[in-house]
Amino acid sequence: MAILEAERILGAAGIESPRVDAELIAAHVLGVERGRLPMVPLVDPQVVDAIGQLVGQRAKHVPLQHLTGWAAMGEITVGVGPGVFVPRPETELLLAWGLARLRDVERPVVVDLCTGSAALALAVANARPDATVHAVESDGVALAWARQNAEVRAQAGDTAIRLYAGDVTDPTVLADLDGTVHLVLCNPPYVPEDTPVPPEVADHDPAVAVFGGPDGLSLIRPIVALAARLLTIGGAVAIEHDDTHQDSVPALLAARRVLAEVTDHLDLAGRPRFSTAVRAAAPASPPEGERQATRTREAR
Ligand SMILES: C[S@@+](CC[C@H](N)C(=O)[O-])C[C@H]1O[C@@H](n2cnc3c(N)ncnc32)[C@H](O)[C@@H]1O
Repeated sequence: MAILEAERILGAAGIESPRVDAELIAAHVLGVERGRLPMVPLVDPQVVDAIGQLVGQRAKHVPLQHLTGWAAMGEITVGVGPGVFVPRPETELLLAWGLARLRDVERPVVVDLCTGSAALALAVANARPDATVHAVESDGVALAWARQNAEVRAQAGDTAIRLYAGDVTDPTVLADLDGTVHLVLCNPPYVPEDTPVPPEVADHDPAVAVFGGPDGLSLIRPIVALAARLLTIGGAVAIEHDDTHQDSVPALLAARRVLAEVTDHLDLAGRPRFSTAVRAAAPASPPEGERQATRTREAR
């Protein structure tokens, strides 16, 4: 199947980026970088047939990453497939913010809450070999993907991460790390229940990875408390959120007296995407409840 024909089929099926997906499928089957496709003639009938089969699945809205078996995060890729959330490009902004915060910190302690495939945790371990990275996940299938990805990265020479089967709403989770963590990263389930989602999400991302209760904040509320407990003075937290949470998540962070510098950040499409805060040396005043989130938006 030629790329143009694949693009036509995917476009007709309502796939958002039919050309890109057609090229990535062809590159995957051929085992080449996408940029090298023009140098590789599509003449082998077996290759053409294999591309056609994957294009057929993609036209049924099977996520591209389930077909290729991997997703990117920072400088690494992780294995993904049924039962685990596919890491999204917008989460790389959260990763980049977190890594920038660590620039002047030697041997940082990092926690990735709701780790899924462990993409964020492993990307930090890859970028910062001196870091000790802890990652928490409650779902058994996701944890199995995380363990497998962690083994692959450790074999590639990255520092091993510490994976925990745990519930981030448990008030005792990671209690041993209280007050010692330099960076908390979290991409939790945050879509408000009953929000319509595309078939790639509805049929292939686990619901437990996507939906965060009636207002999407059911997990984020306890996560804010957990981050405040874990962080050392000067440590920072970054929490990804729904684009309807541009006020609520900064307000939850600002309501914690030990957290300061609350900021909301936009994604590449200009939508509110994640909130950050820094653990202050002393509780900020005025008292909890009366504080407003001092929000500055950062266009990227
Ligand atoms: C949106 S996914 C993010 C996965 C990964 N951090 C990423 O960015 O690709 C959220 C993850 O949180 C996990 N999760 C949901 N509820 C949880 C809980 N109470 N405790 C720990 N993990 C939870 C889900 O199983 C899922 O893997």
